[in-house]
Amino acid sequence: MTRLPIAATDAHAFDPDEIGTNQSTEPPFGAVVEVALTRRGLLLGSVAAGALVGIDGPIKRARAETASSLTFTEVAHGRSPEDVVAPGYSRQILLRWGDALFADSPPWSPTTQSATAQARQYGYNNDFIAYMPLPRGSDSSSHGLLAINHEYTQLNIMFPGLDPKAAEKDATREMVDIELAAHGLSVIEVRKQANRWEVVADSPYTRRITMTSPMTLVGPAAGHERLKTRTDATGRTCLGMINNCGGGKTPWGTVLTAEENFQLYFVGDAAGTPEARNHKRYGLAAKSRYAWSRFHDRFDVTKDPNEPNKFGWIVEIDPYDPTATPVKRTALGRMKHEAATCVVNPDGRLVVYMGDDERKDYIYKYVSDGRYDPAAGAANARLLDEGVLHVARFDADMTMTWMPMVFGQGPLTPENGFSSQAEVLIETRRAADLLKPTPMDRPEDVETNPLTGRVYALMTSDNRRQPGEQDAANPRPRNFFGHIIEIIPPGTEPQVDHTALKHRWEIFILAGDPAKPELGARYGGPLSPSGWFANPDNIVFDPRGRMWIASDQGTAQGDFGIGDGMWACDVAGPGRAVTRFFYRVPSGAEMCGPEFTPDGRSLFLAVQHPAGDDKDSSYENPTTRWPDFRPDVPPRPALVVIVKDDGGEIGG
Ligand code: FEO
Ligand code: CA
Ligand code: CA
Repeated sequence: MTRLPIAATDAHAFDPDEIGTNQSTEPPFGAVVEVALTRRGLLLGSVAAGALVGIDGPIKRARAETASSLTFTEVAHGRSPEDVVAPGYSRQILLRWGDALFADSPPWSPTTQSATAQARQYGYNNDFIAYMPLPRGSDSSSHGLLAINHEYTQLNIMFPGLDPKAAEKDATREMVDIELAAHGLSVIEVRKQANRWEVVADSPYTRRITMTSPMTLVGPAAGHERLKTRTDATGRTCLGMINNCGGGKTPWGTVLTAEENFQLYFVGDAAGTPEARNHKRYGLAAKSRYAWSRFHDRFDVTKDPNEPNKFGWIVEIDPYDPTATPVKRTALGRMKHEAATCVVNPDGRLVVYMGDDERKDYIYKYVSDGRYDPAAGAANARLLDEGVLHVARFDADMTMTWMPMVFGQGPLTPENGFSSQAEVLIETRRAADLLKPTPMDRPEDVETNPLTGRVYALMTSDNRRQPGEQDAANPRPRNFFGHIIEIIPPGTEPQVDHTALKHRWEIFILAGDPAKPELGARYGGPLSPSGWFANPDNIVFDPRGRMWIASDQGTAQGDFGIGDGMWACDVAGPGRAVTRFFYRVPSGAEMCGPEFTPDGRSLFLAVQHPAGDDKDSSYENPTTRWPDFRPDVPPRPALVVIVKDDGGEIGG
């Protein structure tokens, strides 16, 4: 095996997606690796497509037949201060960090920023994007709302004069309060005219949600003693949401936004409190990545040990009602939520697929008790409160089992420290551990393909999986490049049964450079030189059911020599799993938020942390000043939209 730059790649210290490893799991069996890699099932995609694309005999036929339905001319691998889109397409910048959202928003100034101003401006590090048509319930592709997550902040790029390696130690109260205001979510109204998009000024829908916005907690854990704090005796309210990464959309027109690395913001040792075991499993530490606890007691667990229990949830937001209070839906479990993809099962029950983004953590799905009623509107939200969370085990026979997480069933009993379903949900990870699910290579997005019903789970990497620790679904040790698993529910596509406890699965792509056989990369057929990618993070499907993949290499992008961006491929036919490179982000950035309009003619993207993943980048000396390229302005995360110059479908 090629000697990879392990030391450098392990140093993902500034990437909040790269925190921690589940220490609670036993090493899985190494012997099943070869089973997964040699099975004819791997990459065959035989059911939906009849495609003959595989890794041995079948792939030879594919070489002669490969023909992607995607017609764009690819961009080249590389890293540059600029972003690059395929020829014949145009990229427009809609909003940058600090841009005014309201009529009274103060102008952004990088040297005199204030928390008050930030709360009225576009937040930092945009991630998930939801396009919600206007009017509500329509399929308009030229007028709608965008709800956009602001995942985290990076002080040394945002403010001058800070040590890039230890910016937090010099953080001031004002900087911290700006950070709180730069987190959360923005809602904006957008309109397309003559193939160009504009943000509608002074829209009544415009909204900023921050780390101090009042929220409620509902569902089985709401009101539990362990959610009561010094400032909330009810256990049913909290201030703000943090580290919102991916998300989803409900069939009744609301947005689900996923709290991911909440543990980073808290500090203190909970030893001796009832929360010690709980906080340890989520990676809370005596030292914090952020300086927040120096100025706000609620981030110090020695002062308020229950406050972290208010974070790590899926939050429902109604973007059409700027007065609606965001709601944390506890029935969906508490973890480092990456995303929450909703699908209405043929029998009407709502299923939500989710990943817990940590090395050797798990994939989950939630199944509602009740059935979706299209006439009931917002009343359907009860489906997110009454239902069963399941955690996944992948077996070497290419089946998988969804295991219900119900208090009183199996090991989820008082003997193991659970006195109610509320506690199963507050300690979702520890409850899941007892059911022995499959520890995955950092589960990021889990998305359903609306045209087929198949489900795709993105494993971004696990650089700490040791030789011998592989299993069928995580077949590579030291998985630097990540992979994509295809999950196949039973039934006739697309009317598959998402609620079934048994699904089948295959490996769709093992990412990395296929020209280096020692890396074990596998695609559906031969790729162009820039067709390979590393570290799949989020995906979206276009109206033809093709997969668009956003990558996040973290600080490894310097090691692999390629930038992050969007790749796309067919999921069936000769172009199945044959990826092509469409858009490259500027140096040090990751690609987030892919979202199409319903007609597939506009693609909204979030460029997160330009320069931020480049070693030693700072406010004064960033690797790029994208998108302003002014010497007095730092790089700024930005919302972009891509259209085809002739107004046609993205991807052709
Ligand atoms: Fe924030 Fe798991 O990506
Ligand atoms: Ca992500
Ligand atoms: Ca990410």
